[in-house]
Amino acid sequence: MSDRKILVTSALPYANGPIHLGHLVEYIQTDIWVRFQKMRGHQCFYVCADDTHGTPIMLRADREGITPEQLIADVEQQHRADFDAFGVAFDHYHSTHSAENQALSAMVYTRLRDAGHISSRSITQAYDPVKNMFLPDRFIKGECPKCGAADQYGDNCEACGATYSPMELKNAVSAVSGEKPIEKDSVHYFFNLAHFAEMLGEWTKAGHLQPEVSNKMAEWLENGLQEWDISRDAPYFGFEIPDAPGKFFYVWMDAPIGYMASFKALCEKSGLSFDEFWQTDSKTELYHFIGKDIIYFHALFWPAMLSGAQLRTPDAIFAHGFLTVNGEKMSKSRGTFIKARTYLDHLNPEYLRYYFAAKLNAGVDDLDLNFDDFSQRVNSDLVGKVVNIASRCSGFIHKRFDGKLASINAEPALFEQFVTAESVIADLYESREYGKAMREIMALADKANQYIDDKKPWLMAKEEGQDQALHEVCTVALNLFRLLVAYLRPVLPELAQNAEAFLNIPAQVWPHQVPALLDHTINAFIPLMTRVEADKIAAIIDASKENLEPTASVTATTQAPSAVSYEPVAEAIEIDDFVKIDLRVARVIKAQNVEGAEKLLQLTVDLGFATRNIFAGIKSAYSAEQLENRLIVVVANLKPRKMRFGVSEGMALAAGPGGQDIWLLSPDSGAQPGMRIK
Ligand code: 2FM
Ligand code: ZN
Repeated sequence: MSDRKILVTSALPYANGPIHLGHLVEYIQTDIWVRFQKMRGHQCFYVCADDTHGTPIMLRADREGITPEQLIADVEQQHRADFDAFGVAFDHYHSTHSAENQALSAMVYTRLRDAGHISSRSITQAYDPVKNMFLPDRFIKGECPKCGAADQYGDNCEACGATYSPMELKNAVSAVSGEKPIEKDSVHYFFNLAHFAEMLGEWTKAGHLQPEVSNKMAEWLENGLQEWDISRDAPYFGFEIPDAPGKFFYVWMDAPIGYMASFKALCEKSGLSFDEFWQTDSKTELYHFIGKDIIYFHALFWPAMLSGAQLRTPDAIFAHGFLTVNGEKMSKSRGTFIKARTYLDHLNPEYLRYYFAAKLNAGVDDLDLNFDDFSQRVNSDLVGKVVNIASRCSGFIHKRFDGKLASINAEPALFEQFVTAESVIADLYESREYGKAMREIMALADKANQYIDDKKPWLMAKEEGQDQALHEVCTVALNLFRLLVAYLRPVLPELAQNAEAFLNIPAQVWPHQVPALLDHTINAFIPLMTRVEADKIAAIIDASKENLEPTASVTATTQAPSAVSYEPVAEAIEIDDFVKIDLRVARVIKAQNVEGAEKLLQLTVDLGFATRNIFAGIKSAYSAEQLENRLIVVVANLKPRKMRFGVSEGMALAAGPGGQDIWLLSPDSGAQPGMRIK
């Protein structure tokens, strides 16, 4: 057992929305690192929590007619279930709305105040006279003072890029009540970040940050540090400031303290020493994994707060980039804003863990989830290379050798090569160069397959007198497989567990001078991973489009451009692509509502030569009754796709910006079901 004691966190997800694939980049990145540390025998603890405070959560609960406490309890359950399903294994998952966090927030604040780092003064802000609340910038909307663009929120214009004070917006209204905001004064509390200019100047250059982040910090520090407003007025969902009735800690004040609170709760349940990890001269290690959008909070405010409150500062902040899908920002209209749950409804979570691992590095570049690449890598690396080794050899061991491995290792040099690779692979995991680690592991998998290809056990099995050789070859291959599984274990914990059950061995620790597995009985092979099916990816994208708030919609499977935008939404196709589409006249013989689906109608259509079931997202424009007996145009040769509510066997064609303005394409009278449209 090593003496490294490591505390690791991922950013706390807000409790007002679901976990999506963008979030998962970080949780998967962190979880892999933590699992790796644990396999190495270190004492590593991974904590996280829901980030529950603030105006958006308060307003959402208000809109839903529930208390914020109810809202955050529901969301926490969903978050936990999603993390669990993706194998993200926290040692403790907490909430920032907890007794531990309240006590620690009060402690940090009091220490900062007593050391003279907090000041207060009155400021003027926008106030909603109907809702009786101060309005955060993003809840004020109006016309841009520079270019006049309508419906601009907060302090910058999306149309012309101008920045301004929200009170300068023309015809500004509160996005909460629609009322014109007034200006009102109130006392706020500020953390004097400038007191920490020197400390931060050193800290940000001392190797705690990635080089590109450290450079960015130097720029920010040069521009001078402003005081940071840490209070908000009631009504606010959060913690009241101990000596300031009616004033609450701003959500970003108590959120990072939530890391400590979650760890505190872990200490309480497991007997660990909280102080050992948080005192200024702690010998333990502390790492925060975050997205690059919240570097400012973690690399400036947080170390300053900790140091001002006489607590230890982090050893490192590991920032990552954003997720794009198919090369573009995640988009609801393209169906690429994919919730964790939607993915889980269709695909194995370990595919995504592997794919992210294969694309992750130690930098802050964005990471692209390209679905073709995703399928190709999973199918070729995991199914085609790794699992294939076991499936090629295990049958012979069972049929010919009673499930028992040979008693000698016929290829000690090859085996040794696989064992000694551990140090390169370990360094890559440690430095978060997972993509490079996956390439090393796949190069080994190639070697193992090459070995099998050279030896051709399937031929040996047919030849007289080759039994011993066959036994040895399969034993070597399964031993190589076992090491590959150990190296992949941080990324693919479930596959590893199933492979270990098949190999009849305990959960593997990091391989270091391991002997070969000989004279050992294995269990029957169970398929460890199947190929990614393309229709499942299509189904995820479909279902993600269905998750849209009511906006434009053509059918359940194709989203129309939004109501205000008619620019092309798809790349140009060749005529040859177009002629593949079999457009047919169809008669709607039955139309019905779909329980639980706001926008869908289920259509039974007669194509003349077949009857099909089609889900179409046209309910905002047509009632079921209006459609029965009507002629429409459908794509008749679309492969059936499993959707959330059943299998859709075609697509009804319609056009329009959405809402009530969706027009089904209807053939002239005289058309017959089954007629081809050219
Ligand atoms: O940006 C976010 O999603 C925040 N909820 C992250 C908080 S991380 C930590 F500081 F609490
Ligand atoms: Zn503008």
